[in-house]
Order: sequence, then structure tokens, then C-alpha cells
Amino acid sequence: MNFGNSHGLNNISLTVIWDGISYELQTFPNEYRSLMMLIFDRIGPEEFGVCLGMGKCGTCLVEVIQGHTLTDFDRNENTTLAKHGVNNLNIRMACQLLIDEQCNGMIVKIV
Ligand code: FES
Repeated sequence: MNFGNSHGLNNISLTVIWDGISYELQTFPNEYRSLMMLIFDRIGPEEFGVCLGMGKCGTCLVEVIQGHTLTDFDRNENTTLAKHGVNNLNIRMACQLLIDEQCNGMIVKIV
């Protein structure tokens, strides 16, 4: 259950597509440590986020379809993506994407 932030507002709305279904999610900054944790908690796809955000497993890949000025790749993310043969700049590790106002209106697809 989600009660929103201290003002009673969920000011970030985003869409996550998984297995052909669109999930409209609302959150607010600092409710979740990362996009991975939001997806893990609210949708819970099997075998998603296995390393719980350590940046090692590569099971949290999402394709950013719309929105979000992507933060720079850090070295850990680059290494893990390369290990999984990913060279599409729109595919990111959800555990490395922080939830902030930039996520409002974002559409991602779980790869
Ligand atoms: S949760 Fe393991 S790499 Fe993101």
C-alpha cells in the first residue's frame, strides 16, 4: 500500500511495461533507492534484481522508451552491460537509475 509522501502526493508517475502489460506507477523522491527497487516492490517480476542493486547480476535491465535524461553510466554499469552484450544506449540497469522528478512521465520496458 502506498500512502504517498508527507504532503499526501505522489508526484512522480511512470509506466513500466513487462510481459506485454503496462503498469502505471506513482511514487515520490526517496521512496525507493532506485527504479529497480520500485519495480521489484510494486511488480515483482521473477528473477528481476537478483543482486538487489549491487550492479553485478544484470537482471534489472530496462529499455528507456520515453523520457528521463539518463544519468551517466558509471564504471560498474558499463562493465555489467558489456558482460551481457548490451550496446544499446537506451538499455540501462534499473538499479543504477535513481528516482527523481526526471522520472515523471518516463516509460520503460523490462528487457
Ligand atoms: S539488480 Fe543486479 S545489476 Fe541491477
